Amino acid sequence: MPDMPFDLLNELSPKAPSRHADVRPRFTVEPQAVVPRAAEPPPALARESLRIPRVTIHAFCDSLDVAAAIESAAADRVMSRANTTVHQGGIAAAIEFYRQAPTPNLIVVESRSSAGLITELDSLAEVCDAGTKVLAVGHTNDIAFYRELMRRGISEYMLAPVQPFSLVETIAGLYGETTSSKLGRVYAFMGAKGGVGSSTVAHNVAWTIARRVSLDVIIADMDLPFGTAGLDFNVDAGVGIGEAIQDPARLDEVLLDRLLTKCGNNLSLLAAPGTLDRSYDICEGTFERLLEVAQASVPFLILDMPHLWTAWSRNMLKAADEVVLTAAPDLAGLRNTKSLIDFLKQARPNDPPPKLILNQVGMPKRPEIKPRDFAKAVQLELTACIPFDAHQFGTAANNGQMAAEITGKSAAARAFAEVSDVLTGRQPLKGRRTPSFNLSSIFGKPKR
Ligand SMILES: Nc1ncnc2c1ncn2[C@@H]1O[C@H](COP(=O)(O)OP(=O)(O)O)[C@@H](O)[C@H]1O
Ligand SMILES: [Mg+2]
Repeated sequence: MPDMPFDLLNELSPKAPSRHADVRPRFTVEPQAVVPRAAEPPPALARESLRIPRVTIHAFCDSLDVAAAIESAAADRVMSRANTTVHQGGIAAAIEFYRQAPTPNLIVVESRSSAGLITELDSLAEVCDAGTKVLAVGHTNDIAFYRELMRRGISEYMLAPVQPFSLVETIAGLYGETTSSKLGRVYAFMGAKGGVGSSTVAHNVAWTIARRVSLDVIIADMDLPFGTAGLDFNVDAGVGIGEAIQDPARLDEVLLDRLLTKCGNNLSLLAAPGTLDRSYDICEGTFERLLEVAQASVPFLILDMPHLWTAWSRNMLKAADEVVLTAAPDLAGLRNTKSLIDFLKQARPNDPPPKLILNQVGMPKRPEIKPRDFAKAVQLELTACIPFDAHQFGTAANNGQMAAEITGKSAAARAFAEVSDVLTGRQPLKGRRTPSFNLSSIFGKPKR
């Protein structure tokens, strides 16, 4: 039997059956059923348990398709802590490279030749440092070949073509870092413009989730100087998030608990200072620790984001499990919504698109873009459409109550319930088609 140089211990230790086990080829079925090849991005819920640690990954590809799939996997936010580089030249290039350089945590090698892969793996083993894992990507669907690879200590074999998310899942499986079931989900709410009701929607949805699911929800008011969450819930909330950013590294579950203000059953607020006595020049990574700690302590974290485009705000949108965009039905809202959707598509290539809420629809005397046209123009179905209701929302804001408390059976209350169900996965959107329409058709016929 050949030597087993690649992380021998790991390969020999009995593995608990995992959800990743089905990634391993079985070879007795048709090729397309061997390796999961989801054409669609996976639902957000499927990825919440995946975590990939700060490992270094080098890929040596033999085809452009596999290289592109690895590049796409590397861009996935689940892989954001990993450091991935992709090279061409296949396993031969890897052997050459590691004659001079130390090996990383994981080497991904693709080979189009099965015989070549087997022999070259032996040469690769000679230049591999202990502890390095090897994931092979091949084009051969054969059980004897697979067994041969496994005998050589390969950690995993994937059959090409590979889907980016299958790669992410397989790599997560190799590092066994699935997060505990109490890991929270993060929903970032942002308005396409200021004043479109994004904070109002975020607070109402948070309040509704807390009531409907009876699980803890934290609202973090990220609009440090002007945030209104404390006013909206009629609580005297103190400095809240202001202290969390003083020394982000110091933040832990105990400190977070101390900074929270209870504002209902299952609902707490990490309030914004809401004062102008200092300026808030926030660094890019300031809130990473907050997300980590909050995710470990509550099932749901709602980020009420200001209408801001900074390094930290972009990072929060990238890091969230779901992004909820709120827009008013006007041209600027349409342009900005389209820009945000495009940004998110590019920054989160393997995630589902954001949820889109059209708010303040039907304001008397205001010319508006029709919800249907708005959805067609941005090519995204609306998760909810909330009517303009000055009395309901004005009363709620002035009383420090939620809109649904003012009129429980209103269209707005129903919309908040629907958004909350969609986000928590209680009731997926069904039977709605994504319109395919061109932005120019709206710009060609402005509805002003
Ligand atoms: N559907 C609605 N109908 C009427 N007024 C609304 C509606 N949604 C929000 N508002 C009001 O719009 C104002 C701005 O809301 P806010 O949530 O602060 O916006 P943003 O966070 O997007 O800047 C608030 O006074 C709020 O009460
Ligand atoms: Mg706001």
